[in-house]
Amino acid sequence: MSVVVVVGAGYVGLTTAACLADLGNEVRVVDVDAARVAGLRRGEVPFFEPGLQETVRRNLEAGRLSATTDYGAALAGAAFAFLAVPTPQGPDGQADLDHVREAAAAIAANVTGPLIVINKSTVPIGTGDLVGSLIAEAGARHLVKVVSNPEFLREGSAMKDFMEPERVVIGSADRAAAEEVARLYRPLNAPILITGIYTAEMIKYASNAFLATKISFINHIAQVCERVGADVEVVAEGMGLDARIGHRFLAAGIGFGGSCFPKDIQALAAIAEESGVDAGLLRSVMRINQEQRRSIVLKLEACLGGCEGTVIGLLGLAFKPNTDDLREAPSLDIAAELRSRGAVVRAYDPVAMPKAAEMAPEIIYCRSPYEAADGADALVVVTEWNEFRQLDTGRLRAAMRRPVLIDGRNIYDPERMRSLGFTYRGVGRP
Ligand code: UDX
Repeated sequence: MSVVVVVGAGYVGLTTAACLADLGNEVRVVDVDAARVAGLRRGEVPFFEPGLQETVRRNLEAGRLSATTDYGAALAGAAFAFLAVPTPQGPDGQADLDHVREAAAAIAANVTGPLIVINKSTVPIGTGDLVGSLIAEAGARHLVKVVSNPEFLREGSAMKDFMEPERVVIGSADRAAAEEVARLYRPLNAPILITGIYTAEMIKYASNAFLATKISFINHIAQVCERVGADVEVVAEGMGLDARIGHRFLAAGIGFGGSCFPKDIQALAAIAEESGVDAGLLRSVMRINQEQRRSIVLKLEACLGGCEGTVIGLLGLAFKPNTDDLREAPSLDIAAELRSRGAVVRAYDPVAMPKAAEMAPEIIYCRSPYEAADGADALVVVTEWNEFRQLDTGRLRAAMRRPVLIDGRNIYDPERMRSLGFTYRGVGRP
């Protein structure tokens, strides 16, 4: 059992805290947001993540998990402090490190015994040094060691990803500190890779950039497939059978969104260019991703003969299923573009509508997919929620003014949809 502090009660921080508490550690969450801390103490998790709220409650009740705004109280007797604060995209594409700096300064000002500070936030190469020097400036160098331990959690499966990781990466100039951190992860029986700190920071960026590249690659192939009459779904299947390629992350669609890929790939491009390396590949990945969103709107225009005066229903708003996250969600871009072209936008999403209503009040929010289809000239599948896979297509069609179905995630069978009378367009399908 170790005493662990987690700074930042966001997706990464709370998942880390809940899981480490579940493994038997005493975990103290520190956050500057007093309302969030008060909510947490009542067992409220401020976002939707399967299994997280239950685990938080269970560990609060067991006394292994607590939350505070007070760094001094949290750090008393703690052996580890995880930094899981946001690193949003700054104006020049680089990661904005203000929250990392604030957290490092607060730790430096409050630390009283030996502590290993573990950076979980995705940060530019060299941030470990920055954290170390901020702590040194405050006179706490002799007490604190800095370790990088990037997270690879996916929203929607964050708990499972923490508990059953494919690898744990730990980077530090201090081997003993890295081994100490590895000890926290031993119960998970995962491969643990101990590296230098710059390498650990790079593994995170390179992994996300590679996955994003895979998605843009298949979307690029999808664009070509549409023009030459090939089917990207079968192309991806055929490619994926080659073990060197693999099936995962080859689903063509509207492209990637979320809090990580768009931001991390921008940041890596900025890091490359700053160090004199051409970032053309990464910039193309982002351009193709943007293009996928636009191509949905172009498809609608082609089917409807323009968007002016039309009603478009969106099925799904979250950037992917099983989350209410709308950060960099294609849905919001597409809705704004459609509205600017004169369409009225209706939408249904099983969990993301309350958040969406705050960010995009001009969308008409509906209680079901059928209500979103009501009087619509077209429906667009934006997020592949499972509940959209088995809709009553007759009811859907009957509700619509014109039966245009743009399947941005290729969840339906084109032949079947056409036989049901829909004007169907998928992504990369003939
Ligand atoms: C990602 C990484 O997977 C995770 O390791 C990292 O820690 C954070 O970033 P996340 O953003 O939660 O996780 O979602 P993920 O499931 O990876 O999907 C990212 C985006 O790619 C989604 O918008 C999804 O719709 C899209 N995607 C994914 C595709 O368009 N096609 C695919 O084949 C896979």
